[in-house]
Amino acid sequence: MTSVLFVCLGNICRSPLAEGILRHRLVEAGLERRVLVDSAGTGNWHAGKAPDPRSIEIAARNGIDLSGLRARQVGAADFERFDLILAMDRDNLETLERFGARAGLVRRGDVRRFLQTNVPDPYYGGPEEFQTVFDMLDEGCDRLLRDLVQGV
Ligand code: 4NP
Repeated sequence: MTSVLFVCLGNICRSPLAEGILRHRLVEAGLERRVLVDSAGTGNWHAGKAPDPRSIEIAARNGIDLSGLRARQVGAADFERFDLILAMDRDNLETLERFGARAGLVRRGDVRRFLQTNVPDPYYGGPEEFQTVFDMLDEGCDRLLRDLVQGV
């Protein structure tokens, strides 16, 4: 069993979308019981909330249901629980590294940025920004799935 945690700022736009996409890909590949997927935010402003309606909508258009997800803040236990913690942007990564350093828990190499570039925060954007985010996450999950298949 491998476990992956996607992390963004609010856990309502980018990381739940990444969670939904990867889970969908795993089901398609028949690997859903081999990889645990979750998401969290570095902030707690949206804790308990469903994903942003714009993320729910773009996921639904691609056959992915995010409506059951609820936001939560990343916690110290996540550093022990997840094999891979993937930050959406450099700010998220820096925050995670601070959390982890404080908790004494960061295992180097396990906490990294998901993509080589930042997945831009779409919260104050429109449909185009959400489309860009979706496309980046979709491609990234494709690559991640290939890597996971080699490792599981
Ligand atoms: P996310 O987007 O980090 O992709 O979930 C955001 C959601 C909410 C806020 C910022 C980014 N906010 O400032 O409330």
